[in-house]
Parts: sequence; C-alpha cells; structure tokens
Amino acid sequence: MTVSTESFDLSGRVALITGAAGGLGQSFARTLHQAGASLVLCSRDADRSELVGLANELDGSHRLSVDVTSSDSIQAAFSQLDDLGVVIDLLINNAGIAISGEAHRLDDAAWDAVVGTNLSGAWAMAQQVANRLIDKQMDGSIVNVASILGSQPSKGTAPYSISKAGVLQMTRSLALEWARYNIRVNSISPGYIETDINREFLQSDGGAAQLKKIPTRRIGLAEDLSGPLLLLASSAGKHMTGSNIVVDGGHSCLSL
Ligand SMILES: NC(=O)c1ccc[n+]([C@@H]2O[C@H](COP(=O)([O-])OP(=O)(O)OC[C@H]3O[C@@H](n4cnc5c(N)ncnc54)[C@H](OP(=O)(O)O)[C@@H]3O)[C@@H](O)[C@H]2O)c1
Repeated sequence: MTVSTESFDLSGRVALITGAAGGLGQSFARTLHQAGASLVLCSRDADRSELVGLANELDGSHRLSVDVTSSDSIQAAFSQLDDLGVVIDLLINNAGIAISGEAHRLDDAAWDAVVGTNLSGAWAMAQQVANRLIDKQMDGSIVNVASILGSQPSKGTAPYSISKAGVLQMTRSLALEWARYNIRVNSISPGYIETDINREFLQSDGGAAQLKKIPTRRIGLAEDLSGPLLLLASSAGKHMTGSNIVVDGGHSCLSL
C-alpha cells in the first residue's frame, strides 16, 4: 500500500482555532492554511493586532471573538457562524492558560480560571462543533492541545496539570461517544515550547533546570507540532481517534 501526501490535504475543510493569536495558535494556523483549510481564527478580542496580522497573512481567514470561559460568548460566536452558513469540521482546542503556585496557596479564582479555560472551555467548544456535525451528518476532527503535564505532574502546576489530565480523558471519552458519527477526537501533548504562557518560567532558574532534562538537548519549537497536527487533522489519520501524540523531545521518558 502506498501513502499519498494527498491524504494530508485539507482542501474544503473549515478549521476553527481557539487562542489563534498565541504562540502555538499562530503556527497551527499557518500549517492548516498551507494544507488548504479555510480558517476561523479566534481570540477573546478579534481585533487583537496579532490576530489581524495573521488573518491578513493567511488570506481568506475569518476572525472571530470568543472567550471559551463564557457560554454567552461561545453561543454568540457559533450564532455568527450559523448566520454565515459556516460549518466547522476541524476544531483545534488550543486556548489555554497557566497559573502557577503552591497548591495550598492558590485561590478559587486561579483554579476556576485554569480549569474553566483549559478543560471546560475545550469541552464547550467541542460540544458546539459536534452538535452541528451530527445534525448535518458530516464527518469531523477535533484536536485538543493537552500537555505532558497532563500525564506527569510537576510541583507548582497543580490546576494546570489537573486540567490537562482532564483534557486527555475528555479526548478519550468524546472519541468513544462520537466515533459512530465519524467525528475523531485526538490530542497533542507538547513538551516545553517558549511562548507567552511560559516565557517567564523558562527564563527562571527552575525553567533552565527543566530544559537541561530534555533528552534531545533542545527546547521544542512550535513547528515541531506541525506534522502531528496534520496527521490528526487529516484523512492520513483517519483510523486514529482517542489518541494522544506526545511531542517533547523525550522529556516525559525521564526516569523517576
Ligand atoms: N508552550 C508550551 O510549552 C505548551 C506546552 C504544552 C501545552 N501547551 C498548550 O498549548 C496551548 C497554546 O499555548 P501557547 O503556548 O501558544 O500559549 P499562548 O501564547 O499564551 O497562547 C494561548 C492563547 O489562549 C488564548 N486564551 C486564553 N484564555 C482564553 C479564553 N478564556 N478564551 C479564549 N482564548 C483564550 C489567548 O488568546 P487571546 O488572549 O488572544 O484571547 C492566548 O493567546 C495551550 O492550551 C497550552 O496549555 C503549551
């Protein structure tokens, strides 16, 4: 059997990326655009300069404001898409935040913000997309951006690690339920890649110590995720659902 590069082609697909103006989101958008997908680029503020610049660069992309912690905001965003006749058949659940601190000192607001964004937000977006695909009897693919911290905790990151563990189990649960509708649900677990979410930590002594532990002796790059993303998004990964692809230079292979 031969594998054609055509199976990675995303022409005709409509991809929505949350957190598209962020470090990984921008790279995901470029990858999907290059593979032929039409894009709906989301930020809490669709007029954010990074999002406007990205939409200009990736000709034909649509900008949309959505705060994944707000059901009103999500409803309004999908109503706009419904009015435009746009059906999302590729969702990249990428929006995420991290708040660090000792578990016993973090307040409820920190927990609510992290779990609300990373887990509940991804759940709500997945539901909106799947409901429409199921109604229209269309196939689709959802890629959740988890983290290696979802499988292996690290001190000081409890709400983040717990939220990402939830994302991994959500991926499997939704894969199980939606396989019959031809909606595939997978995740990518990146290791450390320098973006706004972790720049301060990575430049600290603790961060530098973490980076030294990566077996490949380098920090990840956003583009390291491009191949795994395309595999999960496209028909090249058509028998993959409930899978998690770890992209971390071997970081999570460390012995305890
Ligand atoms: N960088 C890493 O090392 C790493 C490793 C593992 C996993 N991840 C995951 O990768 C994803 C992307 O992170 P990143 O590294 O690209 O960080 P980033 O540059 O900070 O981007 C995250 C984006 O999420 C969006 N966001 C935050 N709260 C939101 C909300 N309530 N509603 C909608 N969007 C919201 C923000 O966009 P707006 O401000 O424009 O709304 C932000 O640009 C996250 O899920 C993160 O947990 C990152």
